Amino acid sequence: MILLGKISLAHFWTLALSAVAEAGSCWRNTTCTGPEDTSFPGVWEKNIYAPASRQVRPQSILEASGSRTEFKLGLGYNILTGNGSRIVFDFGIEVGGIVSVRYTASSPGLVLNLAFSEARNWIGEYSDSSNGAFKQGDGYLTYDITAAGEGLYTIPDNKLRGGFRYLTVFLTADSFSNATLDLHDISLEIGFLPTWSNLRAYQGYFHSNDELLNRIWYSGAYTIQTNIVPTNTGRQIPAVAHGWYNNATLGPGNAIIVDGAKRDRAVWPGDMGIAVPATFFSIGDLESVRNGLQVMYDTQASTGAFAESGPPLSQKGSDTYHMWSMIGTYNYILFTNDTDFLQLNWAKYQKAMDYIYGNVDSSGLLNVTGTRDWARWQQGFNNSEAQVILYHALNTGALLAEWAGDTTGLSSNWTARAKILAAVVNAHCFDEAYGAFKDNATATTLHPQDANSMSILFGLAAQHRVQTISQRLTENWTPIGAVAPELPENISPFVSSFEIQAHFVAGQADRALDLIRRSWGWYINNPNGTESTVIEGYLQNATFGYRSSRGYDYDASYISHAHGWSAGPTSALINYVLGLSLTGPAGSTWKLALQFGDLTSVEGGFTSSLGQFQASWHRHSSSSYELSFRVPHGTQGTVVLPPVSGKKLEMALNGKNIPFGIEETKTISITKGGSYKIAVRIK
Ligand SMILES: *[C@@H]1O[C@H](CO)[C@@H](O)[C@H](O)[C@H]1NC(C)=O
Ligand SMILES: *[C@@H]1O[C@H](CO)[C@@H](O)[C@H](O)[C@H]1NC(C)=O
Ligand SMILES: *[C@@H]1O[C@H](CO)[C@@H](O)[C@H](O)[C@H]1NC(C)=O
Ligand SMILES: *[C@@H]1O[C@H](CO)[C@@H](O)[C@H](O)[C@H]1NC(C)=O
Ligand SMILES: *[C@@H]1O[C@H](CO)[C@@H](O)[C@H](O)[C@H]1NC(C)=O
Ligand SMILES: *[C@@H]1O[C@H](CO)[C@@H](O)[C@H](O)[C@H]1NC(C)=O
Ligand SMILES: *[C@@H]1O[C@H](CO)[C@@H](O)[C@H](O)[C@H]1NC(C)=O
Ligand SMILES: *[C@@H]1O[C@H](CO)[C@@H](O)[C@H](O)[C@H]1NC(C)=O
Ligand SMILES: *[C@@H]1O[C@H](CO)[C@@H](O)[C@H](O)[C@H]1NC(C)=O
Ligand SMILES: *[C@@H]1O[C@H](CO)[C@@H](O)[C@H](O)[C@H]1NC(C)=O
Ligand SMILES: *[C@@H]1O[C@H](CO)[C@@H](O)[C@H](O)[C@H]1NC(C)=O
Repeated sequence: MILLGKISLAHFWTLALSAVAEAGSCWRNTTCTGPEDTSFPGVWEKNIYAPASRQVRPQSILEASGSRTEFKLGLGYNILTGNGSRIVFDFGIEVGGIVSVRYTASSPGLVLNLAFSEARNWIGEYSDSSNGAFKQGDGYLTYDITAAGEGLYTIPDNKLRGGFRYLTVFLTADSFSNATLDLHDISLEIGFLPTWSNLRAYQGYFHSNDELLNRIWYSGAYTIQTNIVPTNTGRQIPAVAHGWYNNATLGPGNAIIVDGAKRDRAVWPGDMGIAVPATFFSIGDLESVRNGLQVMYDTQASTGAFAESGPPLSQKGSDTYHMWSMIGTYNYILFTNDTDFLQLNWAKYQKAMDYIYGNVDSSGLLNVTGTRDWARWQQGFNNSEAQVILYHALNTGALLAEWAGDTTGLSSNWTARAKILAAVVNAHCFDEAYGAFKDNATATTLHPQDANSMSILFGLAAQHRVQTISQRLTENWTPIGAVAPELPENISPFVSSFEIQAHFVAGQADRALDLIRRSWGWYINNPNGTESTVIEGYLQNATFGYRSSRGYDYDASYISHAHGWSAGPTSALINYVLGLSLTGPAGSTWKLALQFGDLTSVEGGFTSSLGQFQASWHRHSSSSYELSFRVPHGTQGTVVLPPVSGKKLEMALNGKNIPFGIEETKTISITKGGSYKIAVRIK
C-alpha cells in the first residue's frame, strides 16, 4: 500500500504500521502470479537479501549533522536545517522503486530534493548516471513545499528509480537560514519482481560450508530479482539530457527481465545467456523471461534478424545477440517445457537460423556483419567468439527441433553443420603454439577470454585442447579477477561467468572457485558497493568503471551495480558443485555430477514444473563422502561421481553395496524418481 494525501500524525502511524505488517502485496495493480512461499525452507534463508515486505525503509543514516547513524521514524530525528543541509540514508542493500518522504516544514518556500546512488562513491546532490545521456550524474528530484506544516512527497511514477542503495535528501531554502524540514518518514515501495507478493519465496537454494560462496550465490539471485521489472517501467528513449524517466513500455505481460536495475532497463538477449539460468536455479519464475523473449520475436526483422535489444532501445546489428535470442529460447524451453511458446515462435526461430547461417561463407566460417556485441573492443569478420556462439546455437537448435516435433530433418542438419563448423574453427582459429583460440582466423596474437571460455563450455574445443585452454585463461587473472584481453583493463563478471563454467567443465573446480572468490568476492566485500548484488564490470585498478578507457564517454557512475549478466556463480554452483543440471525439458532427464573443489559440504535445490530437485553432499574425510538426492517422479538421470585417479571405490546405493571396477569416473543410471543416498569409500 502507499500513503496518500495529508493525514493526521496519529492516523499516519496506524497506516505506517499496517504498511509494514502487510507483507503480501504485489506491485500496484499487478496480478500476483508468483509463488507465495519458498520451496525449501531452512537456515540458508538468512542469506536472502530480499526484504520481507515491498514497503521498506532505510536501515541506517550514513551522513547527517551530528553523529547519528541509526534511522528512526518520527518527529525530531531527521532534521534538515538551512539551505544545503542534507542527510544520506542507507537502505543497506540495493533497492529500487518509488520513494515517499513525510515531512514537517517550518515555513513555505522550502525545496525538498532527492538524489540517488548505488555506490558509495557517488553519494551527493547529482545522483549517479542512468539516463544514457553520458553526462556526469542524472541530477536530482525537486519538490516545492508551498505550505508550512505536515506534508507528503511521493516521487512521480515516471521518475521511478530502478536501482540505488543511498538516498540523499537535501534542503534548499534560499531565504531562510533557520528553515527546518523534519523528515519523519522515508519509505520505499519496491518496484521490482512485480508479480510476487513475497519477495523471499525462492524456489531454489544453495548452502555450503563457505559463507563467502553462499553470499555470492544469493547476491546473484537478488540481482535477478531487481532486474525483473514492471513492463511499463523501462528507460525512456531517446535519452533525456537531464533527470530521468522510467516509463517506457518494454514488451508484453506484467513482468519482464532487463539487463540492470538502474539501467538500461531494457531487454538484452545476450545478457540472458547468464541471467536466465541464474533465474531458474534461484528464484525459479521464468514468466519475465518468456516476455523478454517474446518481445524479440515480436520485433524480428523481415530478414529474420533479431534486434540486439528490446524496445524502446531497439539497438540493431548484432550477430552474437541475435544468436543469444535463439539460445535463450533453448534455455527457456529446457527449463520450462513451454511447448506453446515454442510452437508460437517456431517458424520465426527457423527464419532466424536461416538468417544467421546464411552468413557462413565458403571458408565454412560465419562472416560477422552485425558487429555490436557485449562490450568487447573488436568484432567482425571471422571472429572466434561468434563462431563458438553459432556452434552452440546450432546444437541447441537441433534439440529444439526435436522438442518442436520437426520431421523434416532439421535436427540432424543443424547437428551436422555444427560438427563441420567445429572442425573449421579448430583448424583456423586455434593458436597451436600458444594453446588457446585466437580472436579470429587471422594471425592475431590476441587470445580472448570469451571465445576460449565458451569453446570449452559449449564443447567446440577439441578434447585434447581443453586443459591448455583452461590453464591459459588463468594468465589473465589479477588478485581481483580476470582482465579480458578483448577489453583491455576491464574485468567482466559477465565473461567471467562463462570462464568459471569452462573451468568446471574442464574438471578444474579449484580454479573456478578461486576465480569466483577473487572476482565476485572482491565486489561483495567492497564497502563502496551495494554488498548485495553483482556488478556489470569494473577496472583492473580496483575502481568502479567499465569501458571508460576505451573511448566511451560515459562516466564511471554509469556502471550498473545490479546486472544479471554477472550472476554466473548462481547457476554454476548448482550445476557443477552441487552438480545438478537439466538435460531434458523441465528436468525430464537430468545429470548429477558433483565436484568438491575445496568444499566439505554443499546442498541445494530448485523447482521445475515436474517438481523439486534437491541434492546434498558431505565429505567426511578425503576417503569417504555421502551424497543424497531427491528427484521428481517421471524423471530419469545419470549420477557421475568425481574421478578418483588410480584408486578403488566402494559404494552403497540406498544401503546396498554396488560392485565397481576401477574406471576413473563412476556413472550410475537412475531410472525412477524418488530419494537416494549414495555412500562412497575410497580405498
Ligand atoms: C489501480 O488501477 C486503477 C484503475 O486503473 C487506478 O485508478 C489506480 O490508480 C491504480 N492504482 C495504483 C496504485 O496504481
Ligand atoms: C543552497 O544549497 C544548494 C545545495 O547545496 C547550493 O547549491 C546553493 O549554492 C546554496 N545557496 C546558497 C545561497 O548558499
Ligand atoms: C527565521 O528567521 C526569519 C528572519 O531571519 C524570521 O522572520 C522567522 O520568524 C524565523 N523563523 C523561525 C521558524 O524561527
Ligand atoms: C514518460 O514521461 C515523460 C514525461 O511526462 C513523457 O514526456 C513521455 O512521453 C513518457 N513516455 C512514455 C513512453 O509514456
Ligand atoms: C564479409 O561480409 C562483408 C560485408 O558484406 C564483406 O565486405 C566481406 O568481404 C565479407 N568477408 C568475407 C571473407 O567474405
Ligand atoms: C542442410 O540442409 C540444407 C538445405 O536443405 C542443405 O543444403 C545442406 O547441405 C544441409 N547440410 C548438411 C550438413 O546436412
Ligand atoms: C582479428 O582480431 C584482432 C584482435 O581483436 C583485431 O585487431 C583484428 O582487427 C581482427 N581482424 C579481423 C580481420 O577481424
Ligand atoms: C578471416 O577473415 C579475414 C578478413 O576477412 C580473411 O583475410 C581471412 O582469409 C579469413 N580466414 C578464413 C579462414 O576464412
Ligand atoms: C572506497 O572508495 C574510497 C573513496 O573513493 C576509496 O578511498 C577506497 O579505497 C574505496 N574502497 C575500496 C575497497 O575500494
Ligand atoms: C583506473 O583506471 C582508469 C582507466 O584507465 C583511470 O581512468 C582511472 O584514473 C584509474 N584510477 C585509479 C585510482 O588509478
Ligand atoms: C512437454 O510438454 C508437452 C506438451 O504439454 C508434453 O506432451 C511433453 O510430454 C512434455 N515433455 C516432457 C519431457 O515433459
